[in-house]
Amino acid sequence: MDFSSFQFLFSIFLLLSFFPFSFSEIRFSEIRNDDRPIVPFDQFGFTHNGRLELNVSKISLSNSNLDLSKVGFFLCTLDSWLHVLQQLEDGEIRCALQSDLVKSVYTFNSLNGKDSFNTLYNETDSDQYNLVFANCHPQQLKVTMDVNSAMYNLDGKSNVRDYLSAGSTILPRVYFIFSLVYFTLAAVWISVLYKKRLTAFRIHYFMLAVIFLKAVNLLCEAEDKSYIKRTGSAHGWDILFYMFSFLKGISLFTLIVLIGTGWSFLKPFLQDKEKKVLMIVIPLQIIANIAQVVIDESGPYGHDWVTWKQIFLLVDVVCCCAVLFPIVWSIKNLREAARTDGKAAVNLMKLTLFRHYYVVVIFYIYFTRVVVYALVTITSYRYSWTSVVAAELATLAFYVFTGYKFKPEAHNPYFVIDDEEEEAAAEALKLEDEFEL
Ligand SMILES: *[C@@H]1O[C@H](CO)[C@@H](O)[C@H](O)[C@H]1NC(C)=O
Ligand SMILES: *[C@@H]1O[C@H](CO)[C@@H](O)[C@H](O)[C@H]1NC(C)=O
Repeated sequence: MDFSSFQFLFSIFLLLSFFPFSFSEIRFSEIRNDDRPIVPFDQFGFTHNGRLELNVSKISLSNSNLDLSKVGFFLCTLDSWLHVLQQLEDGEIRCALQSDLVKSVYTFNSLNGKDSFNTLYNETDSDQYNLVFANCHPQQLKVTMDVNSAMYNLDGKSNVRDYLSAGSTILPRVYFIFSLVYFTLAAVWISVLYKKRLTAFRIHYFMLAVIFLKAVNLLCEAEDKSYIKRTGSAHGWDILFYMFSFLKGISLFTLIVLIGTGWSFLKPFLQDKEKKVLMIVIPLQIIANIAQVVIDESGPYGHDWVTWKQIFLLVDVVCCCAVLFPIVWSIKNLREAARTDGKAAVNLMKLTLFRHYYVVVIFYIYFTRVVVYALVTITSYRYSWTSVVAAELATLAFYVFTGYKFKPEAHNPYFVIDDEEEEAAAEALKLEDEFEL
């Protein structure tokens, strides 16, 4: 691994800690004998017409002789939370619920001995809020309760509920449009395969499967998000989505490895070390997908969310680095072949192709992992969809590049070269060697 790969790894870990999420569904949490002073529940981007439904039942407090106005739920933006922490530190207030920067939703002094309450809170200041529970008697009080919460925005005129956070509400449409683009690409690829069927290799049929899985995956994600938008839950589409994400992830990484090794158009078999890469990447993808499911379903404040997020990022980074090795090996082999064997120029052209491919794979990985996370961090919650669009555009560009460069062709310029070109290329190789010295 060279220096740039290390830099790449480092920036991923750096960004890992700043990834703000916007979740949106109806959530259920059980709190049992909890003495944490602060329990965050969920995060949501409200418009001017936002609602929070909070139903809490089976409340039992270990000590009821305390001032219960210092126990309860509130909404707070991240910015004001930092100010509240400052106020607490400076001793201006004793309890987060006393700060005028938080929006108190329900304090337990209103319980009057009941063990449950339902409340509807209207939020009219558009911003991204966190729903938080504060217990300002952490040493003396343990709380047990079942919390059902739902946050949604009401659509201007029709008062229809929209359970997607303000910046994510157009995501179903975005995913649907991209899935149409991939279905079109799949159709184009089928016609290419049909026209060039005599020169198509097995890998070209595999590419068709990869495009198709990507299209179906996007369609499932569009359905998943659109059900959540309308009803607050995915109605089973999430399961289909996870299934196709899994197949798509495995097939894409396998494709990058196979193309990187030159399988089926440079050579008909895989070497042992290349097979080993696949044997590492595929199980890691399984782990990555399990982590993704846990992350998505539990929300940013769920149990072990951070652990699973770290597992996911680690596994993802390992997969991304692993798929680069076969390309590097191919480049090395081609370089050696270009020096020793008579067909220097042909090998040099292949070498150029593989170098381009290496750069594009790095760019794709870097963009979809680092740039996109950076974009999520710097854009306002209202524009969180832009990072999804950026990631999907980069992915689309990567698919199109791969398909275009490795398309089946009777006279592939990379593999059939006339004498004149061979001489020119040999000249270029000489120059390059001198330059390196
Ligand atoms: C919130 O808005 C709804 C509908 O406009 C209204 O019925 C309800 O009383 C409001 N609640 C509060 C706490 O203002
Ligand atoms: C809260 O309770 C009300 C009334 O029982 C119900 O209509 C609503 O769906 C509940 N909301 C949640 C999030 O459980």
